[in-house]
Formats: sequence, C-alpha cells, structure tokens
Amino acid sequence: MVSVAILGAAGGIGQPLSLLMKLNAHVTKLNLYDIVNVPGVAADISHVATNSEVKSFLGASKLAEAVTGIDLAIIPAGVPRKPGMTRDDLFKINAGIVKGLIEAIAENSPRAFICIISNPVNSTVPIAAEVLKKRGIYDPKRLFGVTTLDVVRASRFVRDIRPDVDAATLRVPVVGGHSGNTIVPLLSLASTPLDLSETEVAELTKRIQFGGDEVVKAKDGAGSATLSMAYAGARFADSLIRAIKGETIVEPTFIALAADTEGAEQYRQLGAGALEFFAVPVELGPQGVARIVPLNGDVSSGEREAIAVAAEALATNISTGVEFVSPPT
Ligand code: NAD
Ligand code: LMR
Repeated sequence: MVSVAILGAAGGIGQPLSLLMKLNAHVTKLNLYDIVNVPGVAADISHVATNSEVKSFLGASKLAEAVTGIDLAIIPAGVPRKPGMTRDDLFKINAGIVKGLIEAIAENSPRAFICIISNPVNSTVPIAAEVLKKRGIYDPKRLFGVTTLDVVRASRFVRDIRPDVDAATLRVPVVGGHSGNTIVPLLSLASTPLDLSETEVAELTKRIQFGGDEVVKAKDGAGSATLSMAYAGARFADSLIRAIKGETIVEPTFIALAADTEGAEQYRQLGAGALEFFAVPVELGPQGVARIVPLNGDVSSGEREAIAVAAEALATNISTGVEFVSPPT
C-alpha cells in the first residue's frame, strides 16, 4: 500500500508524471492536486487499467485533504522558465508556492517522503527543510531535491558521442546542485570507462550543465522540460518506493549532508565543505536516505575545480531559500 500525492498534477510535468505513477504497480492511491484543470486530468488517468485509485483535488480548499494519509508527495507545482530566464528568476513565485505546499504536508502527513521538482531546486529544498524544522518534524532523510534529469541527460549525451555505450544502463555520478554550473557531472567516474578527450569532457560537461536551456530554447516560450522530467521524476519516485519496500537502490539526489549521515564526509572534503545541501549518490532504504555512497575513484582536477565553482553558487542559493522562511534578525 503506497499512497502518493502529486502537487501541480495538471501541469506540463504533472500530467505525464501522474500517468507514469498510475502505471506504477506499487502505488495504491494517487491523489492529484492542482489549482486548475485537475478534475479532467484525474478523470482521464483514472480510466487506465491498473489497480490504484485516482482522486482529484482542485484548489487550495482541497489541499489538506489531498495530502492527508500519504506516504509520498511529489511536487512539480510552480512556474517554468522562458528563454532568457535563469532558474533563480523563478524563485519569486515558486518559493511561496513550495512553502505553502510543505506547510500542508507538515500539518497532515508529517512523516511523508517529499520529492521536490519545482525550481530553483537549490533553494526550494532549503525552503522545505526550514518549514519542517520550524514545526519540529524535519527528518533530513525524507526530503529530496529531484536531480535525476541531470543524471538521465548525462547518460544520454554520452551516448551521442559514444554510440557503443548503452544510455539506459550507463551511470555518471552528478553532484552539486540543479542549475547551470552547480551541476557537476563526474565523467571520469562513469560506470563504464569512457576514455574521453579533454575537449570531449569540456563539451559534455557544459551540455549536461545547460541541458535544460536546450529545451527552453526549443520550446520557445512554451515552457521547459516536461516529458523527460516526468520520466526522470517517475524513475526517482519508483526507486524511492522500491527502497521503502526493502530494495537497496542508489540514485543521485539533492539532500542534506546531515551530521549523522554515513558517507557525507568524503563529499565535504571534495568541496561541499560546510554546505547544508548537496547532490550526491544516495543509497535509498526504508527510512529514505540510508547512506551516501562513496565515489569509486579519484575525481579529476577539472572536476574538483568545477565542484569549487558549484559550491560557491550553492552557498548563495541555499541561504536564499533558508532566509525566505527564516529571515536574518
Ligand atoms: P507548468 O506551468 O506546466 O505546470 C505547473 C503546474 O503547477 C500548473 O498546473 C499550475 O496550475 C500548478 N500550480 C501553480 N501553483 C500551484 C499551487 N500553489 N499548488 C498546486 N499547483 C500549483 O510547469 P512545468 O513545466 O510542469 O514545471 C513545473 C516546475 O518544475 C517548474 O518550476 C520547473 O522549473 C520545474 N522543473 C524542474 C526540473 C528538475 O529537474 N527538477 C525539470 C523541469 C522542470
Ligand atoms: C531542466 O533542467 O530541464 C529544468 O530544471 C527546467 C529548466 O528550467 O531548465
């Protein structure tokens, strides 16, 4: 029995993500919440012949009910980028949206696992943590910023220049955060040795870091990645659900490098330093984060430099999120 709520379910990501979660055999209850259009989306998806029950929750008055009794909340609510915007430009609108949704989850399902897709992830995850801390119910092992799309892009973009590689099974660890140069693919530690030239590493790294911009540009004002994100979000949610049910699964995700989390120290020394949040490969288990998985070798000097650049930008993104909820006195 796994009850899932998708908040922002009628959006560009929300609709295909809701469909993919309807296809997930572990899910027994699917609560779809949005402030517009969700009754149609829920009615449509509810006809798919799997056993889960789909319910629609429209508007703020239904939010509490939508997040009551849930095991997992997935949050793609909020505005997407248009050409010329950075993810940080979304903060003004999305910060308040995410804060309100987390407050409702905290009130009604305080032990739910929370997966945040809404951008800027580098700041919305700290917002969520801060809201939960204020309520005294923060468990850093149950809060995740979804960075799976960066990992998915890394596998696929490698395949574009190495057609012998299987994009579906190649794993490139991607650490840091989820925006531009805070995204740090560690190509030297890919699950299959890639033997890339310096130029190939530089070009691939840039493409992975700015993959989101390719889609924003191609959509030309109609939004950002939705279908690949729904795939990535469903993959992360499925991994988390299977881990809750006892499987051991590793997924990179933006989490708190909490003091008691095994494995955090290696990433601190690598450049995460005192940052409260960082994307790392995480072994998921029944309680969420089981441990942070050590890297399987030494990072290159270029990767170390990229981590330093990411850490500087992340420090600002994280404090922007924290201060939105807890302004400095
Ligand atoms: P969209 O505009 O198509 O959909 C957003 C949905 O959120 C809409 O249906 C809207 O009604 C809903 N919404 C707005 N305020 C809400 C509220 N208070 N409560 C519930 N729902 C609300 O946008 P999209 O393309 O689906 O993107 C959503 C977010 O995901 C954006 O912030 C985007 O930047 C982000 N995103 C993140 C990643 C990632 O890798 N983490 C990838 C792609 C997009
Ligand atoms: C992405 O990486 O595709 C998302 O973060 C959306 C965006 O704004 O690029």
